[in-house]
Amino acid sequence: MTSQGRDDPTSEAAYFGRRRLLSMAPGLIALASGSGCEGPASARALQPVRAARSTRFSVDRAITPASIAGRYNNFYEFGPDKEAVAERARRMQTEGWTVELAGLVDRPARFDLDQLARLMPIEERVYRFRCVEAWAMVVPWTGFPLRALLEHVGVKSDARFVRFETFGRSHGVGAPGFETQSWYPWPYVEALRLDEAMNELTLLATGLYGRALPPQHGAPIRLVVPWKYGFKSIKSVVRIELTRTQPVTFWNGLEPREYGFFANVDPLTPHPRWSQATHRWIDTGSRSPTKIYNGYGGFVAQLYPAGPSARR
Ligand code: MTE
Repeated sequence: MTSQGRDDPTSEAAYFGRRRLLSMAPGLIALASGSGCEGPASARALQPVRAARSTRFSVDRAITPASIAGRYNNFYEFGPDKEAVAERARRMQTEGWTVELAGLVDRPARFDLDQLARLMPIEERVYRFRCVEAWAMVVPWTGFPLRALLEHVGVKSDARFVRFETFGRSHGVGAPGFETQSWYPWPYVEALRLDEAMNELTLLATGLYGRALPPQHGAPIRLVVPWKYGFKSIKSVVRIELTRTQPVTFWNGLEPREYGFFANVDPLTPHPRWSQATHRWIDTGSRSPTKIYNGYGGFVAQLYPAGPSARR
């Protein structure tokens, strides 16, 4: 893992310094999603986002430094090398990005990021994040509950699943070209059961470390489901569709034995090729026991009466 210089604009010190500035001078700094954000994706990523931190989601561990989280990314559209993603994703084009709400909804709609920032209750939440590859981090997302957006468009009574799609060649945003370089079945698709999508933990994130979401973390908007393995937290979403039947998803469709549809964090059910009993923190390299539902059982255990892995 590469280390960053002192003046890295996304370093943790810069993050906390900026938070102090925000609290001292409210109103002086515009919301990232307000007007005046034209410019390349890299400039957008530096825009601060002002949002109060929720106290409902406390975490008993220090926040992972931004410089480490931002240099160790899974974003296969930019290749399989985690440490190369940040550099390659700088080319991402997020201007004019919209998110389409489609399928079994009362009011199909398309929103740009400014509209979402105006309509949705933006807050900051510090969540643990656990990858299926047995590494973990703790990061402060800013965003809004997916439930708020689904309620805004109205969910039809026969909807059972929510399907999410990342940019692809035809979307005109993102990084057309990269995703065609391999045999993977692009675009990346993920899905949740409707009750999972409506759970209060399920977040659509538009920011991280008090700024707009950087490209390598899934700019400009991504899903965060902290009780599931990280591959469920799809990045750079362009389309959200309510469906009656369970959608085919990217990793589950490729390797169903290794990547379940539900993919709830479960230390007692090993991956076919490695144990899930512990994880490695990407900042310190130390290991900790993995908790069932990644420690979020109080929020989600009732969704799975037969346990986290009864249906993988
Ligand atoms: N979303 C897309 N579109 N493409 C991806 O390759 N990788 C997933 C998830 N979302 C992925 C994705 C995996 S495997 C993980 S662990 C997380 O993103 C990593 O998120 P991070 O880079 O912000 O830590």
